[in-house]
Amino acid sequence: MIGIFDSGYGGLTVLKACMKVLPQYDYLYLGDNLRVPYGSRSPETIQQFSEDAFRFFLKKNTPLTVFACNTASATVLPYLQEKYLRTPGVTDRKVLGVIIPVAEKAARMTHNKRIAVVGTRATIASKAYEKELHKIDPGIRVFGVETPLLVPLIEEGWHHKPETRSILRKYLAPVKDFAPDTLILGCTHYPIMHDVFEDILGPHVHVLDSSTAVADSLADYLKRHPEIESKLSKNSTRIFTCTDAPERFADFSQKFLGGEKIEVKKVEL
Ligand code: DGL
Repeated sequence: MIGIFDSGYGGLTVLKACMKVLPQYDYLYLGDNLRVPYGSRSPETIQQFSEDAFRFFLKKNTPLTVFACNTASATVLPYLQEKYLRTPGVTDRKVLGVIIPVAEKAARMTHNKRIAVVGTRATIASKAYEKELHKIDPGIRVFGVETPLLVPLIEEGWHHKPETRSILRKYLAPVKDFAPDTLILGCTHYPIMHDVFEDILGPHVHVLDSSTAVADSLADYLKRHPEIESKLSKNSTRIFTCTDAPERFADFSQKFLGGEKIEVKKVEL
């Protein structure tokens, strides 16, 4: 089983992209919707919440887990990998984040070496994308903009309302001045309004979703690591868990993913 973790619904964008590229695998999704959003909280709180999720997947014995949440990946994932994955008995488990694959793809895509990043307050403050991009090419200029109002608006289903477009236009004004050719959507939710980003920025800016970049990089990772791949069950089973209001979670997941009826189990972290 492949674990997919997010602070709420947003990680369903990553799950959907993974199910498209790698449909044969079994997936266990956890959305911590009781405590979403993580992105505007203090580093200590993000650490505590993410650590609970990390331990959840260790208990579930998922050989491979993807921390789809950009905020958790950007701020605490390296610390958690170091703290837990060196313990005897779990050293063969893998917990992958989203920052490296997305930064790698963005670095491959840019021609003018100007990349903008939008994300939650915590993701932008961490400068995680900037650090990864500079490891790949120190000549890349990076401009980060925090866009904290977008997650609640998307969760309310307001992503195509004129009010949301006008907020996004305001957020993106300094991005336009920076004149990047690539924009990283550094948040699980933002692919849901990919078209609005594209509309505002115009045809000269390539809008890069973290969800598809992560799915492609996961497929590549599994090819390169047959020792992990062979441990993953392949019955196309999907298990959904969340930490609050499972009916609402099921309804949202159903609308977003389509297909068969989705059952969601409530869990405690
Ligand atoms: N999942 C978070 C992220 O990708 C967005 C929602 C939140 O703030 O928890 O950064």
